[in-house]
Formats: sequence, C-alpha cells, structure tokens
Amino acid sequence: MLSFFPLFFSFIFGRQQLQIQPDVSSGVNQAMYREPYFSHDPNTRRELQSGEVTAYPSSGGIVLGHFSAVELAHLNLSRTKPANRSSDPAEEDDLALRMLRLGAHWWPSWGLYARHKKRIIDGIPYDFHFPPVVNVGYPSSGKGVWVFKFSADKRTWDEEDERKPYLEREPDDWAGRIRMVLTMDERCEVLKDFGATFYEKVEDCVDIAKTLQEGVDKGKRYEELLKRMEDLKYVDRWLSGLEKGNDASMKEEDW
Ligand SMILES: *[C@@H]1O[C@H](CO)[C@@H](O)[C@H](O)[C@H]1NC(C)=O
Ligand SMILES: *[C@@H]1O[C@H](CO)[C@@H](O)[C@H](O)[C@H]1NC(C)=O
Repeated sequence: MLSFFPLFFSFIFGRQQLQIQPDVSSGVNQAMYREPYFSHDPNTRRELQSGEVTAYPSSGGIVLGHFSAVELAHLNLSRTKPANRSSDPAEEDDLALRMLRLGAHWWPSWGLYARHKKRIIDGIPYDFHFPPVVNVGYPSSGKGVWVFKFSADKRTWDEEDERKPYLEREPDDWAGRIRMVLTMDERCEVLKDFGATFYEKVEDCVDIAKTLQEGVDKGKRYEELLKRMEDLKYVDRWLSGLEKGNDASMKEEDW
C-alpha cells in the first residue's frame, strides 16, 4: 500500500497547487478549504450544464441529485428549461423527498459536497466516506422498484492491496447505456442488466430515505465521515491501512 503515497501527495500537493509545503502539521487542512470551487447559486433549481438538481428542504441543507431526462420527467421538472427554487417551502420539501426516492442525497451545504467531490474527481479514493451513487427505477406498472448502486470513487487504491472497496465502481459502459433510455421501463431494464436489486416496496431498500428526516440523518453521518477525510493524517493512515475503519465494522450498512 505504500506505493500509493507518492501518488496521493502528488494529487494533494501537485495538481491542486497548494502554496505550502507538505508538512502536515502546518495547516494543510485550512489550505484545502481555501481552494477555489465553482460556485452554487442558492436560488437555482437546476444547473443545465452539470445536470445537477437542487431542492431546499425547510429543515436546512440541500438535497442534490444528478438526473437524466427520464428522471426529470418522473419528478415533473422541465427537461429543457432552467428553473429556480420555489418560494413555497412545502413545494421544496415535497420535491426534496421525491428526489431522495430517486437516489439523491441530503447535504448540509453545497461547499461540503463540492470540496470532496472535487477530490474524488482528482482521483483520491473515498470508499465508504462518501455517499454511493444510487440509481433507482420505478416500473410503470407501479409495482416495486429497481435499485443499483456503485461507489462514487473514480479511482481506488492499488490492486496489490488486499483490501476490497466496499462497493464496485461505476461500470465502464454504464453512462453510455443509461443515458439512452426513453422511458422509466427502459431504465428499469438497463438497471436489471447491471444487476440491480428489486424491492417490492421502496421502504424495503436501506439505500433510500423514507422521510426527509431520515435523509438528513444519513447525510449527517456522511458529514462526520467526510470531516475525517479533511484531516490529512487520518487520510494517510486510512489509505495505508493503519487506520481502523477499513473493516466491515465501519461500513454504511452497520450504522
Ligand atoms: C407538473 O408541473 C406542472 C407545471 O410545472 C404543474 O402544472 C402540474 O400540476 C405538475 N403535475 C404534477 C402531477 O405534480
Ligand atoms: C431565476 O432567478 C434569477 C434571479 O436570481 C432570474 O434572473 C431568472 O430569470 C430566474 N429564472 C427563472 C427560470 O425563473
């Protein structure tokens, strides 16, 4: 696992162009916070460029999802026009819950999401520290739900490492296929092809929050895990296998 270190440090200290030396005691954590991020307008419902949809539940925070055309239609959101948040809190709560039921996640803030998502895109493995990508399909028959999830990681640790990631990563042909579906039923077929799990009732699936409060609670557990990932000493120890939390006891299912 030691072979990962030079790579990791090159991501942290090379690509992200921190202005300080890799001395972990000298305030690296703060430096990570100062990184420039693409901003998020708290009035926006949907970013046409990124495909991100945001709902603003009355409990605070945001519910964030990335949806295809079929999912947007399912949510009764425009597929072709930009939109802003509603001035009616009940409407925001209603949409937030429907988004959770399509696999979206609650986040305490945009910043927390963006900061860690960027590091994932830069190739830092997060494994169980970051919410999985949860893909949901509702058959038009109204019976049951298909759920297929994978890790948000773009990269995992070295192959010679004995540790197994807690989830598979996105299949290579995933985006190319799921992007082409025209109906929810076609989406379900593709999900099935990728080995999705069928649940009689959406309530049976632990990956989907049944209430806004449950979504918030799940998000807060991830907030704790992500806080750990802001401590570079912890990240080093975790990546090198020294930190407890690589084992099954830390996995999401056991919370
Ligand atoms: C869908 O949205 C339109 C306009 O945004 C609205 O008039 C309609 O009532 C909505 N339908 C449902 C089922 O929510
Ligand atoms: C969204 O709000 C902005 C102002 O913040 C406004 O300029 C824009 O026209 C609004 N867009 C829609 C689709 O209502």
